[in-house]
Amino acid sequence: MRIDVVTIFPEYLEPLNVSLVGKARARGLLDVRLHGLREHTSDVHRTVDDSPYGGGPGMVMKPEPWAAALDGIVDSAGEADGEVPTLVVPTPSGRPFTQALAQELAGRPWLAFAPARYEGIDRRVIDAAAERMPVVEVSIGDYVLAGGEVAVLVIVEAVARLLPGVLGNAESHQDDSFAPGRMADLLEGPVYTKPAEWRDRPVPEVLLSGNHGLIARWRREQAFARTLAMRPDLVERWDRAAMDKHDLKALAGLGVHWDEPSGRFRRRPIGVEE
Ligand code: ADE
Repeated sequence: MRIDVVTIFPEYLEPLNVSLVGKARARGLLDVRLHGLREHTSDVHRTVDDSPYGGGPGMVMKPEPWAAALDGIVDSAGEADGEVPTLVVPTPSGRPFTQALAQELAGRPWLAFAPARYEGIDRRVIDAAAERMPVVEVSIGDYVLAGGEVAVLVIVEAVARLLPGVLGNAESHQDDSFAPGRMADLLEGPVYTKPAEWRDRPVPEVLLSGNHGLIARWRREQAFARTLAMRPDLVERWDRAAMDKHDLKALAGLGVHWDEPSGRFRRRPIGVEE
């Protein structure tokens, strides 16, 4: 996969040289190219921002440097294939970044990122880009960062680990929370390693039993309990068809039952006994 990032702070993206993403680059699985936005200015002050039309606080990023930077990226595709990148614009007003969106982006051969500083980029840049390439405006959460660079790091890391060959088998993403399949919409429960007893705290006995069926069932119950505690909003997305009779029993113990009329799992209201 090729990834281009245009930013006024290329040094902010240095973590892309480290760990999983750094290794994927070194192995040629990821081709990451950073571009300094100020290289595309034409005045002595290398200005990238100006005051907003209509008034208000803060500054807005000027269209010309962004257009020049994006043109340079698109033009570097090579005449033959006519391929364009998918432009990812991190913004708190974007569509929520989820594992499903990470999967979708991991299927594209080429991503370009346009992280903004200040109040954002002049809207016409995004509207014009959308006429030439797919554009996805993405929020990594309901909070406001000082700029989109950290969001780029988040998105690139989540996407890179899904690319074929990036993770070894031992660290596969099949069992990730939120991944489609049996763990969909479930948070992972606790994990343990040696020693078997630490500061008078033993590891749960079942994990030492060697009984893989029992261990899998225990982990799943832990995931149900964790999800109920941390993300009760996920419960109504659980799929009845993904639950076997052991699951239904474990869920009943946690006060969750299948509600046929609504076609959803529901928690027993607090204080109400079955
Ligand atoms: N830029 C500033 N805040 C952001 C957020 N929450 N997500 C993506 N980009 C951002």
